[in-house]
Amino acid sequence: MPTTTVTDELIAQLRALEAQGAEAVGAAGGAEPLEALRTEYLGRKGRLTGILRRLGELSAEERPVVGAEANRVKEALSALLDERAASFAAAADAGPGIDLSLPGRGRWKGGVHPVTLVIDEICEIFRDLGFNRIAGPELETQEYNFSKLNFPPNHPATDMHDTFYVTDEVLLRTHTSPMQARVMEQFAPPVRVVVPGTVYRRDPFDASHAPAFEQIEGLAVDEGITFADFKATISTFVRRFFGADAKTRFRPSFFPFTEPSAEVDVSCQLCGGSGCSACKGTGWMEIMGAGMVHPNVFAAAGYDPERYTGYAFGMGPGRIAMQRYGVPDIRLLYESDVRFLGQFT
Ligand code: DAH
Repeated sequence: MPTTTVTDELIAQLRALEAQGAEAVGAAGGAEPLEALRTEYLGRKGRLTGILRRLGELSAEERPVVGAEANRVKEALSALLDERAASFAAAADAGPGIDLSLPGRGRWKGGVHPVTLVIDEICEIFRDLGFNRIAGPELETQEYNFSKLNFPPNHPATDMHDTFYVTDEVLLRTHTSPMQARVMEQFAPPVRVVVPGTVYRRDPFDASHAPAFEQIEGLAVDEGITFADFKATISTFVRRFFGADAKTRFRPSFFPFTEPSAEVDVSCQLCGGSGCSACKGTGWMEIMGAGMVHPNVFAAAGYDPERYTGYAFGMGPGRIAMQRYGVPDIRLLYESDVRFLGQFT
């Protein structure tokens, strides 16, 4: 069995120290524990010095051999400590507690409300057709909301069940049509306007009704405007908004402020007209009420009914948004759930 010399023993101890030191440096959790390791291993009273205390036991020839190995180990550990210290310093420069390797957090991005998207798109199409976009008051008088629009006194729509009254005379507008009267009183013909806005009705809040919702009123008045102008304008709008293949249908209807009156349907966007649950099997979706402005409405607004004619229409962009985006319940539009609203941009 070979005898182990003191030299071999010290060299083995130095190498073990190097291995332990390298492992400890790798495991150090920060700059402070790292400096403690430097002291523990390489300090004046450290473990390396402890090993070298036995140099005195060696002969003059053996001493430089162990000394050289001790220097090598000291330099190797010193280099490891410096390298690790530099990496802690770099992380500290990047700011306290910041882990540069973490994936970034997505930025919160808002969306435009789907009904606003539809309103803006509709108004832009009508702008191309020569219509100005304006707004009007949500608090209206009985006179503008009903009387000036040729509603007879005691018309069912004036009933408390449909209208939110603030006082006997003042109410929340039930439609955007009062803006017809306001526009004609303020501007001489010709006029072409679209008026988007919120309207209010005493309806239950259920899957297909909301007590507050949006309408877009349209009004075009000039000399010589006919129902043919109305049909051409609306058909153009429908093709621009719903697509070149969309068909338009005009059905006779009744409104006190138009004569003749019509309701306008567009071929169902979901089934293309063959009939589905969205259009209740008819192949058509109603998009607006409309008609030629009643002479009494002109007279009440101070326009000469003998000289001017025009058409008016009112549509529900909320309904149109529901059809376009496949929204089954109107409450989704008005409950401000960002998980739903964030889908629209
Ligand atoms: N104001 C009507 C409503 O709220 C919609 C309407 C129908 C508007 C015919 C019009 C129109 O301008 O001509 O139900």
